[in-house]
Amino acid sequence: MRVLVTGGAGYIGSHTLVELLGQAHEVCVLDNYDNSSPEVLNRVRQLSNGQLTDYVGDVRDGSMLDQVMAEFKPDVVIHFAGLKAVGDSMTNPLGYYDVNVRGTLQLLSAMDRHNVRRVIFSSSATVYGEPEYLPYDEAHPTNPTSVYGRTKLVAEQIITDWSRTHDDACAVLLRYFNPVGAHASARMGEHPDGVPNNLMPYIAQVAVGKREALQVFGDDYDTPDGTGLRDYIHVVDLARAHVAAVDYSKRQTGAQVFNVGTGQSYSVHDMVKAFRTASGQPIPCVIKPRRAGDIAAMQANAARANVEMGWKATHDLNDMARSTWDWQSKNPDGYDSAS
Ligand code: NAD
Ligand code: UD1
Repeated sequence: MRVLVTGGAGYIGSHTLVELLGQAHEVCVLDNYDNSSPEVLNRVRQLSNGQLTDYVGDVRDGSMLDQVMAEFKPDVVIHFAGLKAVGDSMTNPLGYYDVNVRGTLQLLSAMDRHNVRRVIFSSSATVYGEPEYLPYDEAHPTNPTSVYGRTKLVAEQIITDWSRTHDDACAVLLRYFNPVGAHASARMGEHPDGVPNNLMPYIAQVAVGKREALQVFGDDYDTPDGTGLRDYIHVVDLARAHVAAVDYSKRQTGAQVFNVGTGQSYSVHDMVKAFRTASGQPIPCVIKPRRAGDIAAMQANAARANVEMGWKATHDLNDMARSTWDWQSKNPDGYDSAS
């Protein structure tokens, strides 16, 4: 199939490109490199055979979308392009609504102009908010606590309303849990700009000597070791969920929501321990107060994706830690490291 991937040069997008090309899909990327580098696509091309075309442009630019869709003629769009830093979203709400919501509106309008009826959307488990029960299933109430989370929920609702306007439309809304890890080649991985907001890239930068110690945000939660529990998912498993969603969108209609997680959760201490084993590095930790807005525990019920999309995570915690270490130690400056 012909798959247009917005934000395809990003962390999750790049891993998805390799999996799509590996399944003989023809792929086209639209990215403005706001949070990525063109070097990413060089590496994807080195790792893959198959057809990958790319355009530099903004998903909010309707005429750019017209050009891409007229030339590439996609069967399906995977929409990764967006802004994702929770803290930034609170200080720049309009910027986040502009990219995440207006970008989605522009994309759907262009899809209508070009008769494209299938879309896979990057949503987040953060749309659930404070858990009423765990693991979250897709029927759990949604109540996001950040602007970022609200932009994702609004985009989900817009896509759902759009899907109702076409009998043959299919929208797959994927709610990711916590993506971590890197490609087995150590040629692709996560490359945060500046100080990492998320746990795994921070641990990796401590292990490689770029930062002194991990700050553990709270060890007084109501969890077995007092630190936060999360459902970490290997980015290659997450990438494969998109390939499964592309196939699923061929045989389904309507808007369909799926959790994408492993169904297991690990604490901050579990992650540090796994990383010490993978890297052989000491990884000093200091206990700090809780981070504002954090919740104690998150965990996915991923049964729906397992059963209906035929997708299941296969990588374990050691794979997540080892691949992150390989990537970080061989590319200490991410994609700025010599290739
Ligand atoms: P990323 O920042 O690495 O990738 C996003 C890509 O989109 C980047 O290449 C960026 O340059 C591009 N982009 C941003 N704004 C754009 C615009 N206006 N036009 C065109 N391209 C644009 O992020 P990621 O971790 O790969 O996440 C991909 C998607 O998944 C995002 O929508 C994010 O909100 C969502 N998501 C991520 C996580 C996570 O923890 N990484 C969790 C849940 C959901
Ligand atoms: C964060 C986002 C969430 C997003 C997710 C993507 C916030 C409040 N939430 O979630 O919206 O979908 O990333 O992966 O930013 N931790 C430390 N020290 C650190 C960093 C993190 O102890 O330096 C702890 C956190 O308190 C948490 C766990 O590690 O218990 C995971 O944190 P993180 O990787 O930031 O993910 P989330 O908080 O789940």
